[in-house]
Amino acid sequence: MLEKSLWHPVALGHEVGAQPHAAELLGEALVLWRDEGGQARAWRDQCPHRGARLSLGRVTDGELECPYHGWRFEGGGQCTRIPAVPEFTPGPRHHAHAFEVREAYGMLWVRLAPPTGAAQPIHDLPRFAAEDDAQLRKTTSGPYRVAASAPRIIENFLDMAHFGYVHEGLLGSRERPEIPPYEVEPTPWGVRATGCRAWQPRSSIHATGEAQVEYGYEVTAPYTAVLTKQPEAGLSAVDGHREAIAMFICPVGEESSVVWTRMALNDFTSPDAHLIEFQDTIFGQDQPILESQRPKRLPLMPTAELHCAADRLSAAYRRYLKQSGITYGVIA
Ligand code: FES
Ligand code: FE
Repeated sequence: MLEKSLWHPVALGHEVGAQPHAAELLGEALVLWRDEGGQARAWRDQCPHRGARLSLGRVTDGELECPYHGWRFEGGGQCTRIPAVPEFTPGPRHHAHAFEVREAYGMLWVRLAPPTGAAQPIHDLPRFAAEDDAQLRKTTSGPYRVAASAPRIIENFLDMAHFGYVHEGLLGSRERPEIPPYEVEPTPWGVRATGCRAWQPRSSIHATGEAQVEYGYEVTAPYTAVLTKQPEAGLSAVDGHREAIAMFICPVGEESSVVWTRMALNDFTSPDAHLIEFQDTIFGQDQPILESQRPKRLPLMPTAELHCAADRLSAAYRRYLKQSGITYGVIA
């Protein structure tokens, strides 16, 4: 399954501290923890001895101890001690099942299998260019646990025509629901839309009034997208306001997901809590819609659902998933 060879976000880096943390990715239960050197580890959440959940155990002296019989595993996964048989030296078969893990964008990313075939850009960690911009301050909202497939959630993130209805009074207005034409093009990683415009009563916590807001969207991996937005000059409390928001999704199952948004904006003074509260409000409005959609998996056959001109980006996203060979969370 291609999806197993992609990097997926599984937890905020700071959530994984002194004790084991349970997560789930593509139906695989994971235990996340940090070894003595602070290195993050991601293993199958199943002890190789009798299958107990390692996430119920504890970290002792930089090793993970199983909750059942106390077998201990060092960071690399090797069992170091079997308390019931103290004189026994565990061999190479006494090993936890470890996955690759990386830290980026304030999160832990896991891939369950090495890439197959020729290395494609799709196998890299999703790009979020704003992360490297020192002029932008970063913060993360979430996790949001949603009973919806990751592709349905990304498609909603790319959708502007719902602003006036789902986010009325904030990101849109029923009085001005029209979405002017915009450009869509493929990229080496996914698809991009430029020249998107929306009329927004309160575009962000900084908005000083209604404004026409310029949007750009980029799908950077099958379950990751980034938007950039810029209100008309003078209609934000921040001079030259600009922001980028990445949506990172962990496909927990085909029809369930955990979502985070990573924000990067040129405002170093607003408290994190205000920025997060605004995102919580917006996502809280999207969630009941997302969980109501049927079928739960995103249908990729062009005729399965109806489309209008405002849906050009979502149609391009569906084609990209199809061409990429994505099968998880979709009806191909
Ligand atoms: Fe883990 Fe026995 S099940 S030590
Ligand atoms: Fe929305």
